[in-house]
Amino acid sequence: MNQLIIVGAGGYAQELLWIVDDINSERQTWEFLGYVDPKSNAKKGHLHYDRPILGYWDDAPRAGQVHFVCGIGSPQARASECADAERRGYLPAVLVHPSVICARHVKIGAGTVIGAGCILAPYAVLGRHCALNLGVTIGHNSQVGDYSVLSPGAQLLGAAKLEERVFLGANATVYQGRRVGAGSVVGANSFLLTNLGPATSVVGVPAKTLSQAGDGGHSSVPRPKDSALIDGVSSE
Ligand SMILES: CC(C)(COP(=O)(O)OP(=O)(O)OC[C@H]1O[C@@H](n2cnc3c(N)ncnc32)[C@H](O)[C@@H]1OP(=O)(O)O)[C@@H](O)C(=O)NCCC(=O)NCCS
Repeated sequence: MNQLIIVGAGGYAQELLWIVDDINSERQTWEFLGYVDPKSNAKKGHLHYDRPILGYWDDAPRAGQVHFVCGIGSPQARASECADAERRGYLPAVLVHPSVICARHVKIGAGTVIGAGCILAPYAVLGRHCALNLGVTIGHNSQVGDYSVLSPGAQLLGAAKLEERVFLGANATVYQGRRVGAGSVVGANSFLLTNLGPATSVVGVPAKTLSQAGDGGHSSVPRPKDSALIDGVSSE
């Protein structure tokens, strides 16, 4: 079995352990070692969803063959913490809940995690360290950029494209063929009908701009950074 740690020790980190448990109940795949809290060791030794918080990186098992996934729900924080974990020598894992429906010719980047009930249509491409929460639908030929976070029920209709570090709120929908710029945010229950530039925050049906790059910023807008190569797994 491969050894695994989860980076982060909050609510979403528990959901990743749930995926691990369900994968292991089908086939013993991962030996889960514990959570690493990249911010502090204050919760060291506490149980979190019945498993130990190891503490800060100093308390983590040595890198080498230890894999990691990121249990942090902000694209910007995912980007920095995943880069840090990789610098320390930990290997990105891919977690796909057994209930996920995945077509042929789908690519999933290293470090990406996919929760229960998601559907990936033909030729969907997911970048590195993306997080697809519960019941997310990725339409055919759609692309999700590195570190993007798709909240429960979010949907990309066919051939939509998210650049890196996009955040889609719960039940947000991106219309077919539309492109969302790096670091942008689509609010919960919003329906995006237009293309979006970088670092833009939109809400509503149809979605309208709440804030955009250069106007003083929006607390929830992550900053763009270079995309990384996809080197994860692909379906036949
Ligand atoms: C879009 C979002 C990031 C904006 O957050 P924020 O910067 O704190 O924005 P505010 O709460 O200050 O709201 C600003 C305005 O936008 C409106 N608004 C915020 N979110 C909205 C949404 N999803 N749909 C419609 N209007 C929304 C507010 O009513 C407010 O309007 P007002 O200025 O007329 O009063 C946030 O509301 C959101 O939708 N987050 C996603 C949450 C989510 O799905 N989490 C998943 C966890 S698993």
